[in-house]
Amino acid sequence: MSLEQLNAYCTSKLAELKKRGAHKGVERVIAKITLPDWVRNGRLPTPAEDENFGPRYLLASDEKAYLLMNSNSYLGLALHPKVIAAEEEGVKHFGTGPGAVRFISGTYQPHIELEKCLAAFHGRASAMVYSAAYATVMGVLPALIDEHTLVVSDQLNHNSIINAIRLSHPAKKEIYQHLDMAELERILGTYTSASGKNAVGEPEIKRVLVITDGIFSMRGDCAPLDKIVAICRKYEQSFADGIITIADDSHGVGAFGQTGRGTEEYTQSQVDILIATLGKALAVNGGYVVASTPVIDYLREVSPFYVYSNPITPSEALAATASLKILGSKEGPERLARLRKLTARFENGLTELGLETIPGEHPVTPLVMRDTQQTALLIKYLFQNGILATGLNYPVVPKGDEEIRFQINANHTTGDINYLLSVLKNFLTYSRSRS
Ligand SMILES: Cc1ncc(COP(=O)(O)O)c(C=O)c1O
Repeated sequence: MSLEQLNAYCTSKLAELKKRGAHKGVERVIAKITLPDWVRNGRLPTPAEDENFGPRYLLASDEKAYLLMNSNSYLGLALHPKVIAAEEEGVKHFGTGPGAVRFISGTYQPHIELEKCLAAFHGRASAMVYSAAYATVMGVLPALIDEHTLVVSDQLNHNSIINAIRLSHPAKKEIYQHLDMAELERILGTYTSASGKNAVGEPEIKRVLVITDGIFSMRGDCAPLDKIVAICRKYEQSFADGIITIADDSHGVGAFGQTGRGTEEYTQSQVDILIATLGKALAVNGGYVVASTPVIDYLREVSPFYVYSNPITPSEALAATASLKILGSKEGPERLARLRKLTARFENGLTELGLETIPGEHPVTPLVMRDTQQTALLIKYLFQNGILATGLNYPVVPKGDEEIRFQINANHTTGDINYLLSVLKNFLTYSRSRS
């Protein structure tokens, strides 16, 4: 009886989602990947190979080969032989899973090595790995927030940040318009003049957390971390426990900045606490936080998503370390330069076709549609022409900002980008002929 009621509830909620156009629908199942030699051998393509096509993804549903334009594996390292070999070696030596949480018996040498590499890569004293970046955000924020904390957050921050703030019950939460530094400063100024007085019986604000995505995943634009840090330093003396800056740069690390150190490198700045994923450019799985040693030591003791949840596998830790080594070698900047070149080629192509995008160096390149139906029509057209891409509608993006998010990666070729642009051009002719 109760389960029938729950079934009816879920069915009606699903129907509501469909009606609102917010239903994600059937997931596409990748059954096989075909690789050109240069990808299999872990090198970049020759000019002739670059004119040809890169990897193709076969779907279980129709066994046709597709160009994948919606992967976060920006450097193409998920198919790199050195990363694959590191993961295989790990399984041989340590088996498949960690078998326990870290403080019981789930800490292996590869976890320690990876944490050392991550701390060094970001120029920090310590690092700590979680099972996902989502879990990292959920694990870090509540540990630093209490009834005397004000949290200030960018309007377009990732869903993990929004939910972590909800879980934390701060004294106050303030949201500033996307990237609006004047509003951030105004908010801090307001609390500065009010702090310590507690005149209306509200809890006194002692600590402020200012938190932002580094790269905003739906748009590929980046937070001005240098300006955020400068504004916070200006106001930090006004709060008993200061202002802590936190960035989640899951889309930036490995894909942005001259050497792949993300938005911090691009903006020449450093936040107090940096969170990122191992599951995008670093091509494996898991999340991490880098910070000072006392902060990391404290989180290891109290952060429930760390203390009570398994870590990534030892083999995943070895594979992530291999990705970091590639990024730190001569090959890293070469892959990044290729990524920037392909991204610029695609962005220029969109502009030449008269299409709207959000310019920037990051490989997330949105085609701004501003219309749900047109987005669906184009996604279908791309699919019919062998291209997998993702349409983003409300509530994933604000109403009126509907878009198709194309993501370039270093395993794409100039041939792939030219093909994609030719399909978009044909779509414009096709949709004009229909109107
Ligand atoms: C800013 C941000 N944080 C966290 C995540 C989640 O990463 P993970 O898959 O490692 O949990 C994402 C992924 O979309 C993201 O964009």
